[in-house]
Amino acid sequence: NNTFSTLFVGQNLIKLSAVDSTNNYLKNLTSNSEPLPEGTVIMAEHQFAGRGQLGNVWHAEPGKNLTFSLLLRPSFIAIEQQFVLNMLVSVALNDVLLKYLPDGLTVKWPNDIYLNDKKIGGVLIENLIVGRLIKQSIIGIGLNINQLVFEGELKDRTVSIAQILQQDVNLMALLAEICTQIEQLYLKLRAGRGTNLRDLYVSRLYRLNKIARYNHNGQVFEGKIEGISETGLLRIKPIDSATVEFGFKEVAFI
Ligand code: BTN
Repeated sequence: NNTFSTLFVGQNLIKLSAVDSTNNYLKNLTSNSEPLPEGTVIMAEHQFAGRGQLGNVWHAEPGKNLTFSLLLRPSFIAIEQQFVLNMLVSVALNDVLLKYLPDGLTVKWPNDIYLNDKKIGGVLIENLIVGRLIKQSIIGIGLNINQLVFEGELKDRTVSIAQILQQDVNLMALLAEICTQIEQLYLKLRAGRGTNLRDLYVSRLYRLNKIARYNHNGQVFEGKIEGISETGLLRIKPIDSATVEFGFKEVAFI
């Protein structure tokens, strides 16, 4: 029902004018008896209860940005390897956005898309694990595209493509590019040829090898991000002690 030049990602595209959260909507659809095709994408012009990581709210001005969720069935990925999906999606988004914003794009671990020191996009992945394998993955993506004004505390921490380019970007064209890029990396991974994904991901990390400040349980320290562990924990080398691996809720960037 669309013109995306993909095999399956985005071929079943459902556009909603308003919904609470595209992740919720997609999750509900997958529990219906009719099986949804892999690669189904739900996009919304307006999300009135968009969800972020750690129970945060995802705000987006209606009609201005991309807010969508993608269904994958990566049952070849074991639970211990699930971080590979975070890497795949962040690298794909980075690849596509690089064409619009050639300078300053990084991935803030685990999967925030950053432009210099501001957030331009976020990813919320919700996996269904059955027998140690990922039976289903709902990949929610929010990108700030044409929104020019951000309210309150988002103001200083958020950026959009249009703020930088001083012109609007076509949302459907961008969505098509993202679907193409995700599919390409996903097919490689499924065929066992996703070997350089980790290196690509690490090379794009925000603050990689830079001394910066972090907060662990209220304790502030200085250190350098060195990379990630096998399972996707963040490896930071504090300036005066040995490397530590952190889980998502264990460390905050300051
Ligand atoms: C984050 O940065 O904390 C993750 C944000 C994820 C937002 C997207 S928008 C589409 C999808 N539906 C949701 O409710 N959340 C994700």
